[in-house]
Amino acid sequence: MIPSRSAIVTGASSGIGRAVALELAKAGWRLGLVGRDAGRLAQVAHACGGDVQTLAIDMRDTGAFAEFVAGFGAVDFYVSNHGVLDGRHEGELVENARVADDVLAINLTSAVAALHVVLPGMRLREKGQIVLVSSLAGLSPLPDAPAYSASKAGLVMYGLSLREALRATGVGVSVCCPGYVSSPMQAEHLGHRPHEITPEDAARRIVKGALANKRLFGFPAPLWPEALFSLLVPENVLRWFNSKLRFTVKKD
Ligand SMILES: NC(=O)c1ccc[n+]([C@@H]2O[C@H](COP(=O)([O-])OP(=O)(O)OC[C@H]3O[C@@H](n4cnc5c(N)ncnc54)[C@H](OP(=O)(O)O)[C@@H]3O)[C@@H](O)[C@H]2O)c1
Repeated sequence: MIPSRSAIVTGASSGIGRAVALELAKAGWRLGLVGRDAGRLAQVAHACGGDVQTLAIDMRDTGAFAEFVAGFGAVDFYVSNHGVLDGRHEGELVENARVADDVLAINLTSAVAALHVVLPGMRLREKGQIVLVSSLAGLSPLPDAPAYSASKAGLVMYGLSLREALRATGVGVSVCCPGYVSSPMQAEHLGHRPHEITPEDAARRIVKGALANKRLFGFPAPLWPEALFSLLVPENVLRWFNSKLRFTVKKD
């Protein structure tokens, strides 16, 4: 469904977003890359080569993002990928309120606000593809990071709702739920990370699934169906299943 080749990727300065940017660059896409760290963003742009614009901002600054999008021109593919992992730190039973507030503001509120920046242009042109990078944590509750889980669940439901609302408009919305990916984010995750894959592998799957306009997709195989069914299984079964996946988050 994607004929032309202009994409904006958020969270492009690192990990999965960086790998998505490189994947799209290889295929000749014109790119707009957004992240917070200007230096790392410039390195990614350099590695991409070709036609690349960058913007170093906090995505909670929706006004700055809107200015960038206005200058960028038509967006055919929007990869909403920026996000932070935070949760229970060592010695805590539950994450604190500030952590919960920040995680929701970045991962969910700013992502929704940014969607509404990109959407009017796509609707006007009656074409475009959006992918929201959620997480398996958006389907299976994480006791060690409730706000992270809630933010990703919010993206799942926002994306699926939006997809249906836009069904007849030519604008497609996909939601992707990755499992463990060996990015810098995972260095902060102190716990077992089964079936971890590389950012490059994740990026290939995200781009492929989104450009095929898949509704909801996730990986890797063993964890994806488990996450899908997690709300249906009895609580004690889920607890047993997830007992090896408990973790704390390390923040400097
Ligand atoms: N890694 C995993 O196992 C995993 C699993 C499931 C889902 N995900 C999701 O995949 C996405 C990418 O994560 P990743 O693993 O690639 O992590 P990462 O390497 O830490 O990258 C996160 C990216 O988001 C950007 N970012 C964070 N907060 C931002 C903000 N307030 N404003 C603008 N940009 C911001 C970061 O920018 P700077 O680095 O410049 O600050 C960075 O480019 C996230 O949404 C994450 O929740 C990751």
